[in-house]
Amino acid sequence: MNLLLVGELEPAERSDWAAALRLALPEHSLYLDRGEVADASLDVAIVANPPPGSLSDLPGLRLIQSLWAGVDRLLGDPTLPVGVPLARMVDPAMNSAMAETALWATLALQRGFFEYARHQRASRWQVHGQRRADELPVLVLGFGQMGRAVAARLAQQGYPVSAWRRGAADAANVELVAGVRVLSGAPALADALAQTRILINLLPLTPDTRSLIDADLLALLPHGAGLVNLARGAHLVEADLLMALASGQIGHAVLDVFQVEPLPVDHAFWLHPQVTVLPHAAAMTDARSAAAVVARNIEALAAGLPLQHLVERDAGY
Ligand code: GLV
Repeated sequence: MNLLLVGELEPAERSDWAAALRLALPEHSLYLDRGEVADASLDVAIVANPPPGSLSDLPGLRLIQSLWAGVDRLLGDPTLPVGVPLARMVDPAMNSAMAETALWATLALQRGFFEYARHQRASRWQVHGQRRADELPVLVLGFGQMGRAVAARLAQQGYPVSAWRRGAADAANVELVAGVRVLSGAPALADALAQTRILINLLPLTPDTRSLIDADLLALLPHGAGLVNLARGAHLVEADLLMALASGQIGHAVLDVFQVEPLPVDHAFWLHPQVTVLPHAAAMTDARSAAAVVARNIEALAAGLPLQHLVERDAGY
C-alpha cells in the first residue's frame, strides 16, 4: 500500500518517524511528500497534527491514522474526508509517560515542592507541613486511555483517586475500577469536586468539554486546591484560572497545554509564582512504540481485518 506521512514535524522528528515507520512496515511504500506519488494511489495518511486542507482530494484514501492521541484539531478541519475511517494513537509508552507526569505533579503538589522551588529563588529557608498521599483526594477528569493510566498509577501510590467521565447527562453512576472510584454523569461532578484536593484534566476536547474548567467549576473545589491540565488548553478558561490563583482558590497550577501554543512570551503564566509551565511535553508519542501501533492497523487494513482505536466522529474522540 502507499502511505503518506503528513503533519507539523520538525525535520529531525520527520526523519525519525519515517525510519521507524519504514522499519515497522517494510512491505509498504512510505512517502513524505504528496508530490512524490499520484494522489489517487494513496491508501493511508499517517498524520501528526496536519495543517487544515492537507488531506483533501485523496480519492483512494482508506484510513487516516493519527500519531496524536487527541484528534480535536483534525476533526476541526472542514476538509477532512468524510467516510474514511480515522484512528487515533493509543501508545502504551505515551500512556506511561502521561502517568509519570501526573505522578510528578501530584507528588510535588502534595509535598509543596513547587513552593520550596519558589522559596529557593528568594533564598528562603522555611519548612512547611508534610501531607500524606492518603490525605489528598485526586479527581481525574476523563477515563479514556490516559485517564485510566493516570488514575491507576496515582491509586497505586496511595492517593484516594476518583475519575469522572461524562457519560449520559442524567445518569449518576459509580463503579470501582483498579482501585479508582469512577463516576459518571454531570450531577456526580459537583459532589466530587467538593472533595478534591488535586484536579487533573485528561478529557478529550469536544464541543461539550470546551471551556469546562471555568470560574464556576473552580469555585466548587475546596480553597487552595491544585490544578493539573494535561489535556488541551481550550478546556480551561485562562482568565478564570488567573482570578482563582489571585484569590487563593487554586493554590498552584501545573499546565502543559494552552489556548495559544507556543505560549506567548508575554503571557501571565510564564512568570506566575503559582504556575508551573510545561511546553506541551507531558506525554509525547514515542516513535519506537507508536510505529508498531500504526503498523498493526495498516496490516489489519491490508488483510481486511477490523481496525483499532477508531474515532467516533460525532462523539469527537
Ligand atoms: C498530544 O497532545 C496528543 O494528542 O497526542
